[in-house]
Amino acid sequence: MDIKKIDWWRTSFGQEEISMLTKSMSEEHISQGPVTAEFEAQFAKAMNVPYAVATTSGSVALLMSLMAMGVKRGDEVIVSNRTFIATAHAPLMLGAKVVLVDVHRDVPVMDVSLIKKKITARTKAIMPVHLCGRAVDLAGIHRLAKAYGLCVIEDACQAMFSKNERGYLGTQSDVGCFSLGVTKLISSGQGGVVVTSNRRTYEELKLIRNHGVPGTFEATYPRLGFNFKFTDIQAAIGLAQLRRVKDRLLKLHSLYRKYEGNLKELDFPFLRLIPVNVNAGEVPLYIEALCQNRDSVRNYLNSRGIEVRPFLPNLNQSPHIKNGGSFPHSTEFSKHGFFLPSGPDQSDSNVDRVLNAMQSYVRRKKIGLF
Ligand SMILES: Cc1ncc(COP(=O)(O)O)c(C=O)c1O
Repeated sequence: MDIKKIDWWRTSFGQEEISMLTKSMSEEHISQGPVTAEFEAQFAKAMNVPYAVATTSGSVALLMSLMAMGVKRGDEVIVSNRTFIATAHAPLMLGAKVVLVDVHRDVPVMDVSLIKKKITARTKAIMPVHLCGRAVDLAGIHRLAKAYGLCVIEDACQAMFSKNERGYLGTQSDVGCFSLGVTKLISSGQGGVVVTSNRRTYEELKLIRNHGVPGTFEATYPRLGFNFKFTDIQAAIGLAQLRRVKDRLLKLHSLYRKYEGNLKELDFPFLRLIPVNVNAGEVPLYIEALCQNRDSVRNYLNSRGIEVRPFLPNLNQSPHIKNGGSFPHSTEFSKHGFFLPSGPDQSDSNVDRVLNAMQSYVRRKKIGLF
């Protein structure tokens, strides 16, 4: 029998994106120009923050932020051991050293109580990562940053429109970074945004995005930068996607609740959802689960046409980042974690199929078939 494959992530682009794109192109708005400015203005407004700077990716947003904060060769930057490697590559690109911190036992975000002993005279910045919309303890980080004179760059690439009690994640520190990659809440294909409340930082970011050059016709070269410019083509797609935010948030919440309710009922102690505090305003971008028999669950679901993505490795497993010390909680997550099919365009019937397959896995497991 030919079974229709279920992808681990589904998102959508439609007529609105095509119309915005066509309009932008027919008005000869192709490279970075007025459509980008409009996207930045709308993004900043939606995020309730004064300034937004769009760029080529979330990775570049992180790199530009570190450059704006003056991070340089020999500095140390504190990073969560559980994140996509982009968070560490940004400081490494500037010649800084990445100092890793383990995550909490129950949720894979930085355990802020572990940071203090990692701070040295060379520490320049902390990069909290709000993984899968989960808020890092920003109040704790800001206290440390104040005490030791450090800057804070929030990696909110997986946390667009996620909130804690003070408002949107990514907007509460020196700078915050978002990704517009395809597996994010909204997407422009590739893309990223840096937000800040500081006017000088905003001006620096705009310079960095354009090789440090302030004017177009009266160019001078006052500082280091690069071509990190966005395009109006991407911004047109981004503007159409911004209009979908409300519906997408509803959809991601409903998927999360559906998985949460059904997985609880499975009554299988070795398989559980990694919680997202949706009641506090966190956005469950992905459906993340833990299972002691991850590979066996994965093989079973794969055999039923369901794509399951295992968690990314920990940063301390990379030869070019290797840090001393142990990271017991990160190790558990990387060994046993996986993503179940989700995303704003994942159909309820697909999720029903996933849940049925998981029920069937558990039944078979209970009678010793695995
Ligand atoms: C936590 C985190 N940081 C940074 C990035 C990098 O974003 P981009 O892929 O847009 O460069 C990602 C992308 O997946 C991410 O998940």
